[in-house]
Amino acid sequence: MRSYRIAAIAGDGIGKEVIPAGLEVLRALQARAGDFELEVVDFPWGSDFYRETGRMMPEDGLDQLRGFDAIYFGAVGDPHLPDSLTLWGLRLNICQGFDQYANIRPTRVLPGLESPLRGAGPGSIDWVIVRENSEGEYAGHGGRAHRGHEIEVATETSIFTRVGVERIMRTAFTIAASRPRKLLTVVTKSNAQRHGMVFWDEVAAKVAAEFPQVTWEKELVDAMAARMVRKPDSIDTVVATNLHADILSDLAGALAGSLGVAPTANLDPSRQAPSMFEPIHGSAFDITGKGIANPVATFWTACMMLEHLGEKPAAERLMRGIEAATAKGVTTPDLGGKANTAEVTAAVVDAIRSSN
Ligand code: NAI
Ligand code: MG
Repeated sequence: MRSYRIAAIAGDGIGKEVIPAGLEVLRALQARAGDFELEVVDFPWGSDFYRETGRMMPEDGLDQLRGFDAIYFGAVGDPHLPDSLTLWGLRLNICQGFDQYANIRPTRVLPGLESPLRGAGPGSIDWVIVRENSEGEYAGHGGRAHRGHEIEVATETSIFTRVGVERIMRTAFTIAASRPRKLLTVVTKSNAQRHGMVFWDEVAAKVAAEFPQVTWEKELVDAMAARMVRKPDSIDTVVATNLHADILSDLAGALAGSLGVAPTANLDPSRQAPSMFEPIHGSAFDITGKGIANPVATFWTACMMLEHLGEKPAAERLMRGIEAATAKGVTTPDLGGKANTAEVTAAVVDAIRSSN
């Protein structure tokens, strides 16, 4: 029996609702498949942990996680704590600590769901956004001086390194090459940002030479936002900086129907450290505790986790289970449905149990 160790970090808010739902679905999947097992260890880290200990995760937290095969993550964010503290204290600490430099965000309109875009049905949006996840605008490089004074100054410097840009380009070209259309759009802002973004374009052209089978093109980020709405069919795989892809992928999630269905994977493609799988959304204070959080993004990211672990048949079985539930209209209120988290979970579990 193949066996994997999974670290589950539910975190805050609806993270504590969707991660248990995801684990329930994974247990059903493991029982149905019968040829692999998941050993799940829960880590109670997050804002409550901060209130008890003064830290979002223990000082040796990364060492505790290092031996796991994957991390299954919910969300962080607490209405009574600064977002910069909660995000950097846990989620970004793990992403950067483990150098999970490739953030992969698939988008598709699932069966039965409706895109807010007129005429965009299932199949008309089928994208993978590849986000640089270790440097760029979120490198944390900058500072503040003369606080509170008239001459106060704050800087937030973007960092683009040759190693960093090359490796994300290679990941993006590899993903584009693996997809039927073999099309990659390299997003920049190299008209206005003439140092880092021109460098980004140059590195893209260099790496492109290694992938003659991939057609690639450049697009400015603002034009890309418009194109996602105007010509969704013209897009397949997209690579963009940390900030640009952060924004574009929220737009992508919304165009697919809801942030509640959008999954993501923070990968260390070198596999030296565990990769982390999570929904794109945050802790959603406005619906926390109501039992109506959409668990689909958390289920979909579990598919990505299984694929990363090499369990492709199980990943596909789970995706079919998710699609069976959405096709039947068993959806939460963010998608216009009437089901709650537990009912969507039960529908996916049923579909897994009865799958062949
Ligand atoms: P959010 O993603 O938590 O919520 C935005 C809107 O989408 C809300 O109206 C929410 O109810 C809805 N929504 C999100 N996920 C949903 C789901 N699964 N089912 C149904 N509806 C869903 O973003 P917001 O409100 O900007 O941030 C709330 C907190 O989450 C903040 O503290 C923020 O820093 C944090 N955050 C954390 C992230 C992470 O842990 N990866 C990512 C984004 C935000
Ligand atoms: Mg975001």
